[in-house]
Amino acid sequence: MNLKIALLPGDGIGPEVVNAAVEVMKIAAEKFNTTLTLNEYLVGGCSYDKFGTPLTEETLSACYDSDAVLLGAVGGTKWENLSQNLKPEAALLKLRKALGLYNNIRPAKVYSALLSSSTLKPEVLEGTDIIILRELTGDVYFGEPRGYDDEKGWNTMIYYREEVVRMARYAFELAMTRDKRVVSVDKANVLDCSQFWRKIVHEIHKDYPEVTLSDMYVDNAAMQIVRNPKQFDIILTQNLFGDILSDIAAMITGSLGMLPSASLGSKYALYEPVHGSAPDIAGQGKANPLATISSVAMMFYHSFKMYKAAELIEAAISKTLDSGYRTADIYSPGSVLVSTAQMRDAVIDNFNKIYDEQVVGETAHQ
Ligand code: IPM
Ligand code: MG
Repeated sequence: MNLKIALLPGDGIGPEVVNAAVEVMKIAAEKFNTTLTLNEYLVGGCSYDKFGTPLTEETLSACYDSDAVLLGAVGGTKWENLSQNLKPEAALLKLRKALGLYNNIRPAKVYSALLSSSTLKPEVLEGTDIIILRELTGDVYFGEPRGYDDEKGWNTMIYYREEVVRMARYAFELAMTRDKRVVSVDKANVLDCSQFWRKIVHEIHKDYPEVTLSDMYVDNAAMQIVRNPKQFDIILTQNLFGDILSDIAAMITGSLGMLPSASLGSKYALYEPVHGSAPDIAGQGKANPLATISSVAMMFYHSFKMYKAAELIEAAISKTLDSGYRTADIYSPGSVLVSTAQMRDAVIDNFNKIYDEQVVGETAHQ
């Protein structure tokens, strides 16, 4: 199998974490008899600096022409004062819309080795394994009309039936493979759009009687994630609420530096760490590459259906954490402080070891 992947490292620590993840990707592909065609393109602030736009036609058509896209991060203080449509973040939004990436999967899973790096109590966190399904191409993010003048500013919160239907279906299908529990998060006590969301989610739920569906207002959900995260399995939610809740859920795992994400559409898929470009530590070799490496695991899983490769990458990350390796963002006294490159090498090393034990070992037994 040959797979074509568009690499969009972006700004800040983006290039460092993407480079690290690509090395893991190459090893995993090689072990599973897959060849990769990797091409790099500019996106975000670096694209603006060179071409005057955060997303060029070249980058966009490269994404259309690839089996998957791996993005690092976009943005930085340098570009903060640009107009809205020239800001690095605009590239992300355009990519999501243009590629039809409506389904954003953000897992927040606690690695047991990292329990002590969260600001929350370990006993509250232990065993947490939440998947946030965030609708990504609707809501106030894209609703029209939008704008502001001297007297007012406005956006439109809008959902169309089909947009809610496809997300709800995905959530219930996923629930059938997990703990059969979905919490749909909205603000139906205030917003008509959320009442509509809730109504459609319940309609679709009728096709999945084995799944337990409950509704939760977003303010309560924010509190509940911090109070008792273990109560959640799948959280299904609107674009804006998912943006906020996924940052809250990130802190459950100890660091935003740990969280991967997949953004899926019916034709295209983009994978990126949830963390941003962290310009303050860019270029210093300090960035945590694990979220991007884990995003590669999601790519193997969702885009290439290479489940074993995905599982081994995740196992390699866990083993690396278990051995005490920590980048600065997850460092605690007594653990081993490592650079981006050292973390990458440790993951590769562990990947190879686990591969030899599990895959080569198994074949030898047969
Ligand atoms: C995210 C980010 C983006 C969003 C920004 C950078 C446009 O916060 O992916 O969560 O709001 O969706
Ligand atoms: Mg966000």
